[in-house]
Amino acid sequence: MHSFEELLKLYTSKFDVPHFPDQPENLYEPAEYFLSLGGKRIRPVFCLMGNELFGEIEADTWKLADAIELFHNFTLMHDDIMDDASLRRGKQTVYARNGANTAILSGDVMLICAYECLNGINPELLQPVLGLFNKTAREVCEGQQLDMDFENAKYVSLEEYIKMIKLKTSVLLAASLELGALVGGATKNNCNHVYGFGRNLGIAFQIQDDYLDCFGDPEKFGKIVGGDIRRNKKTFLLIKALETAKGAQKAELERLLGNNEEDKVEKILSLYKELNVDKWAKELEQQYADRAFKHLDDIVVVSARKKYLKEFAEYLLQRES
Ligand code: IPE
Ligand code: IPE
Ligand code: MG
Ligand code: MG
Ligand code: MG
Repeated sequence: MHSFEELLKLYTSKFDVPHFPDQPENLYEPAEYFLSLGGKRIRPVFCLMGNELFGEIEADTWKLADAIELFHNFTLMHDDIMDDASLRRGKQTVYARNGANTAILSGDVMLICAYECLNGINPELLQPVLGLFNKTAREVCEGQQLDMDFENAKYVSLEEYIKMIKLKTSVLLAASLELGALVGGATKNNCNHVYGFGRNLGIAFQIQDDYLDCFGDPEKFGKIVGGDIRRNKKTFLLIKALETAKGAQKAELERLLGNNEEDKVEKILSLYKELNVDKWAKELEQQYADRAFKHLDDIVVVSARKKYLKEFAEYLLQRES
């Protein structure tokens, strides 16, 4: 068995090779550029860990891990267009560097590359794997659409927000784990708990992402802090602020939401602080983390096998990037 640091090292050494041909350069170079920025590689490591919960890592799991990481990077390339984002992983997004058209097409070819990896697995596994992979991919699209729809909605409930982040983020983390578990030979019941662990942890993960978008250290976060505020994203922080603000604070918050003035971000951030929404966000995150750990407990395998997954989850909840 391996710790997440060990798996990350092993995985990175395999994955950090060219994935695309040289020509046409304007299609493939931006894709290579984006992959070279790295990122945390959480999803492929989850896939490997999902397998290792139940047995030795199979050759097919490495292929699935690649498919998942390529798919994830494809979603980010398109997400940066949708969010009008100029910075990711501390570097220019493909959208800012090469324009929207390139970010669309280089993203598309990355998605195709993900499916080529899937095509390489044992044919007996292909049907269940594609079933879960495609269901997840469709859900991510649904979540991303809700995320955009909510930018223009005046009010979004906590329930709607959770549904949206579950779709856009947590299902991919959950599927990464379950796909690994599936190849590792997990029973249906164990697959369900593995998925439940990933789904709840994924919700906590996105709450942390939304928290860092407001309160992260710009150096470590690698994205523009305040990006969600600029785009009126209906994160938990904004939902809670709208719910708790009264009188003058509420009027000011509503005024700022209808505005795009220079210091909108600073003003909304100071309202968040006054209203303690940063603490509320951390509490909500913990609630979902607790639910995740309950599912981890319920996986029927000797507890020593769960140790590294638990450590990895704890690291993710504390992360600053
Ligand atoms: C970013 O995911 C998109 C979200 C779901 C918040 P990560 O934070 O895993 O991105 P990288 O791959 O490490 O850059
Ligand atoms: C992204 O959510 C989710 C997907 C890419 C599917 P965000 O828009 O919050 O992700 P970041 O903050 O840009 O990484
Ligand atoms: Mg984004
Ligand atoms: Mg987004
Ligand atoms: Mg974000």
